[in-house]
Amino acid sequence: MEKKNLDWENLTFSYQPIDKRYVAMYKDGAWQEGELSDDPNVVLNECAGVLQYAQQVFEGLKAYTTKDGHIVCFRPDLNARRMYDSAQRMEMPPYPKDKFVEAIKEVVQANAAWVPPYGTGATLYLRPYEFGYSSVIGVAPAKDYEFRIFGTPVGPYFKGGVKPITVRVSDFDRAAPRGTGHIKAGLNYAMSMHAIVTAHAEGFAENIYLDAATRTKVEETGGANILFVDQDGTLVVPKSDTILPSITRRSLVYVAEHYLNLKIDERPVYWQEVLDHKFVECGLCGTAAVISPIGRINDHGTIIDFPSGMEEIGPVMKKMRETLLGIQMGEVEAPEGWIMRIL
Ligand code: PLP
Ligand code: COI
Repeated sequence: MEKKNLDWENLTFSYQPIDKRYVAMYKDGAWQEGELSDDPNVVLNECAGVLQYAQQVFEGLKAYTTKDGHIVCFRPDLNARRMYDSAQRMEMPPYPKDKFVEAIKEVVQANAAWVPPYGTGATLYLRPYEFGYSSVIGVAPAKDYEFRIFGTPVGPYFKGGVKPITVRVSDFDRAAPRGTGHIKAGLNYAMSMHAIVTAHAEGFAENIYLDAATRTKVEETGGANILFVDQDGTLVVPKSDTILPSITRRSLVYVAEHYLNLKIDERPVYWQEVLDHKFVECGLCGTAAVISPIGRINDHGTIIDFPSGMEEIGPVMKKMRETLLGIQMGEVEAPEGWIMRIL
């Protein structure tokens, strides 16, 4: 199979339509057989549930070319399960988990020429999503739904790749207690649009959100979970019911414990600990971001600089990043069941 002629090394995190996407419809109370489609457009009724009351959930995962030339995905079963949970919380019919994984395989196989070659640093980002398709005007779930998966070849999420970023503490909240912060629904990202636009305008790469109830605890950023390393070299992982259960974070915790012999401390992390310089490294983690080091946090003019600095990723985050990428690219042996070989 001949690869597409793209400038793989210089891809950014952006959308580019590729040959095939997967489409399945939910009608009359049941999921229909899905199929691949050439059409990147969705035509909707003006009163479709997704357009009126934002009934949408999504996922993000990647296809990688390994060192020995295979094409693989990383833990797609966890994306299938999380999307199932997200749909249930939104009163949407959940897409069957085994069919989700099969559909991922089909899309990647059909677009193998778009999966970036090994060694380029790029990957094929996959975006499964589901939305309310039929019309609703009184507040109620739609009757009919559409499930789709498209792919787009991507480079690093943040400009500069693994160069440390500067983030700020947001004045806005992302997720309410007992709200929807723990699921992956487009509405959570709509909540963060104003905060991200103003953050970018002020020169920050992302926002750190504090817990909405007390504004004393670290939650996550707009598109990733947060990790810290303390002075003893322990990986400190903020625990909260209102953040997304990141698959990257859960995998990194396993990698830190079983591959790197680090101590792990998963607990609520108080903002005051960050202000008190209790941590020597900080980073954000997610499918799109992998691990991006945070060099500096600006809390309304109070600057927290991490000892790892603004030039290089810190040593612990570096080891975690390299090990995880090594597992994903087939350079490091993966735990059982983490890698789904597609081609
Ligand atoms: N938190 C938020 C708000 C996200 O959008 C993402 C991205 O998916 C993550 C965390 C990281 O999750 P994952 O590692 O499963 O991609
Ligand atoms: C992902 O990492 O897959 C996400 O969905 C994050 C998004 C902000 C791009």
